[in-house]
Amino acid sequence: MTILYPDVHESVSATTGVYAPQQDSRLLIEAMTLSGVVPGRRVLDLCTGSGVVAIAAAQLGADQVSALDVCASAVACAQDNAAQARVRVDARVGTWTTALAAAPYDVVVSNPPYVPTPPDAHLEDIPVTIGPAAAWNAGVDGRQILNPLCDCAPELIGEGGTLLIVQSEFADTEQSLRRLRSGGLRAEVVLTQLIPFGPVLTARARWMESIGMLPVGRRQEELVVIRAEKRRATR
Ligand SMILES: C[S@@+](CC[C@H](N)C(=O)[O-])C[C@H]1O[C@@H](n2cnc3c(N)ncnc32)[C@H](O)[C@@H]1O
Repeated sequence: MTILYPDVHESVSATTGVYAPQQDSRLLIEAMTLSGVVPGRRVLDLCTGSGVVAIAAAQLGADQVSALDVCASAVACAQDNAAQARVRVDARVGTWTTALAAAPYDVVVSNPPYVPTPPDAHLEDIPVTIGPAAAWNAGVDGRQILNPLCDCAPELIGEGGTLLIVQSEFADTEQSLRRLRSGGLRAEVVLTQLIPFGPVLTARARWMESIGMLPVGRRQEELVVIRAEKRRATR
């Protein structure tokens, strides 16, 4: 496959306690690059982590890039990475409610926590080296952040604006599409990638099988990028 997006994920590193760029980060950057909507626009990267997607947006020629994360260490890491990449990213602590106060944006990109999480997740054997659980844990159905994000999307983006979200098939892609469409947005899956289970899903596979979320024996996950657009009002 030809990789069209900048190699920013290779140069951006995550400090301890911050989500290191992974396949979902790369897929979102690829979708953002292919979309062609970033140059000259006002972009928000919600759930920025290391800032990898925000930095890619700046490198693609965004006019302004804001980045929000609920975790102060992630914000500091994103600020350092943006400085090292010599791009301007306004990274701050915040969530979608913070974003609503500064909305609408032309483009919103997000790689939120979306991994279905069993009630006893704290007992799992997951290496600490892969980052903080708050970066992926998202409730039993994986939709703890996806639901409010999809529901406020029509207010986050302006007319003609675009939202790009990456998530797992296991966090109910159809529900994201339904919620975005019920808010009046046009929404579709624009990019997918099948990847082998990493340490988190491997630790959760038995539980996912037991609740019927995962066919027994399967150990692959489809990542999807959803693109939603707000039509311009006709005058
Ligand atoms: C999967 S990581 C994505 C990081 C980065 N955007 C990337 O693609 O590599 C999700 C990030 O969301 C942050 N986060 C979790 N809940 C959040 C919330 N309610 N609002 C903003 N950020 C949140 C976590 O701290 C974590 O940095």
